[in-house]
Amino acid sequence: MPTLPSLHVTTDAIDHLDVDALLVPVFRGAIEGPGAEAALRAIGLSDVPRDHDFRGKLGEVLHLAAPGRSWGRVTLVGLGRLDALSDEQVRRAMGTAVRAVAGSARTVGTTLALLNPAASTLRAAAEGALLGAYRYDALLGSPPPHVLRDVTFVIASSTAAAADDLLHRARVHANAQRLAAELTSTPPNLLGPVEVAARAQDLRDVEVEVWDEQRLAAEGCGGLLAVARGSARPPRLVRLRYTPADPVARVALVGKGITFDTGGISLKRPSTAMEHMKGDMAGAAVVLAVFSALSELRIPVEVHGEICLAENMPGADAQRPSDVITIRGGTTVEVMNTDAEGRLVLADGLVLAAESSPDAIVDVATLTGAVARAIGERAMGIFANDDDLLRRILSAAADAGESMWHLPLWDDLRDNLDSDVADLENLGRGDEAGATMGGLFLREFVDGLPWAHLDIAGPFWQEDDRFHLPRHGTGVGVRTLLRWLDPRDD
Ligand code: BES
Ligand code: MN
Ligand code: ZN
Repeated sequence: MPTLPSLHVTTDAIDHLDVDALLVPVFRGAIEGPGAEAALRAIGLSDVPRDHDFRGKLGEVLHLAAPGRSWGRVTLVGLGRLDALSDEQVRRAMGTAVRAVAGSARTVGTTLALLNPAASTLRAAAEGALLGAYRYDALLGSPPPHVLRDVTFVIASSTAAAADDLLHRARVHANAQRLAAELTSTPPNLLGPVEVAARAQDLRDVEVEVWDEQRLAAEGCGGLLAVARGSARPPRLVRLRYTPADPVARVALVGKGITFDTGGISLKRPSTAMEHMKGDMAGAAVVLAVFSALSELRIPVEVHGEICLAENMPGADAQRPSDVITIRGGTTVEVMNTDAEGRLVLADGLVLAAESSPDAIVDVATLTGAVARAIGERAMGIFANDDDLLRRILSAAADAGESMWHLPLWDDLRDNLDSDVADLENLGRGDEAGATMGGLFLREFVDGLPWAHLDIAGPFWQEDDRFHLPRHGTGVGVRTLLRWLDPRDD
C-alpha cells in the first residue's frame, strides 16, 4: 500500500509555499469570469491557455507550468458549482487532485481548505487527500510511481487551533478505510478465513479470540459450519473486544466475512462477475478496520466484534439446498439456496453478539445484489428495528459523506420466511424485496435488542477510481461507523 503522506497546515501566504505542486480549487464556470482571471493572475497564471477545455467540473484537473514561482507547477482542480459547495465536494475534489499528482509530486500544497473556514472542511480535505493517495498495488512487481510524501493545507487562522486534532482524526479514519479497502481487494487464495483471523490477531489494544472449527462445533455455530463445508478452508469466528476505562455505552459489530462466494451448490451463473466475490468479506474488513482505529481515537465506548469467516464453495461435502441446519441458540433453518449464505454465518454472529446484551448491535454485510437494484450501487442500505439508532447512523453517514438510505423491514413479508420443515428458510418465498428479506431473516437473531443492518453490496466495490475512492475495494462504511461511535462527532 502506498505510504500515507504526512499532513501539515500553514497560515502563511501561498507565495511562501515551497511545493512540487500547488492544488488550486476552481468552481464550475468561475475560470471564465473576470474575477477568476484576476485570482489566477495573482498566482502567476495569466497564461492559462484559452483553448483548454477545463470547466471546473467536480474532480476535473488541469496541470499548468508555474515559471518563476516556488511551486513546481499548479494543478487546477474543479469543485463543481459554488452553490452546491459541501464538505463532500471538497473531499472528492481533493481526492481526485491528489490521485492525479501522487505519482509525480513529492510535496503538494493547497488552498482547498480555505473555501470554508469550518473545521469540518479541513477534515474532509485531509480525508480526501489520504484516500486519494491510496491504491491497491501490493502484488505488482513494479507499481507505477508514487512519490507523494507531504500535503500542506493553507488554512485561516481561525481554524489553526483545532487543526492538529482534525488532521489526526482524518488520518486515523482514512487509514482505517484504507485497511478495509486493502483487505477487500486482496485475492481470496491469499486471504481465506484463517488469514483474516491472523490479521485480526495483529490488532493493538484489542482482545482477540479466534474460534476454530472444533470450537465452533462445541459452541453450536451451525451456520458458519454449514457454509464452510464445501470448502477445503475451515471457517473461523473472530471475537474482538475493545474495553476503554469507564465506557459510556456498549455496542457490538458483526461482519460478514465470506472470503469467496461461488454460491456453493446453488452456483452463481458464470456470467455474474464472480471475481467481485473476493470482496464478499468487505463487512468483516470494515469491522476489523474500525477496531484498528478505536484506541487511537480514544473512543469511550466498549465495542465487541464478531467476524464471521468462511469460504462458500461447492465441494464434495458442501451443504445442499433442502438441508436443515441449526444456528447457535437452536433456531433451525432450511437452506433453500446455498447462495444466501451471508445470513447463515451472520445468524451465529448476531446470536453471539446479543448474548452480552449490548446497547446496540450493528452488522455490516455484502448481503444482497438486490440492495443495489433498489437504491443503486453507490449507497449503503440500512435496516433497523430502532429509530434512535437508525437516526444516529444516518447522521454519521451524512457527516462522513457516505451515501446511505433507509429501507423497510415489512412485518407483512415476514411469513415468506416460514418453512414447512424448520423454524425458518433462508431465501424467502417470492423474489421481490430481496434486500428486505435478508434484513428480516437477520432480525430473527438479535433477541429484540436495538439493531441495524448495513447492506453494503453496492458500494463495497467499484470498477474505476472515482474521486477519493479507489477502484476495487473501497472500504465504505468504516468512516460512518467511527463517527457513529465517537461522541465528539455528534
Ligand atoms: N454475496 C452475495 C451478494 C452480493 C451480490 C454481494 C453482488 C455483492 C455483489 C450474496 O451472498 C448472495 O449471493 N445473495 C443472493 C441472495 C439470494 C440467493 C437470496 C443475491 O444477491 O442474489
Ligand atoms: Mn451468496
Ligand atoms: Zn455472499
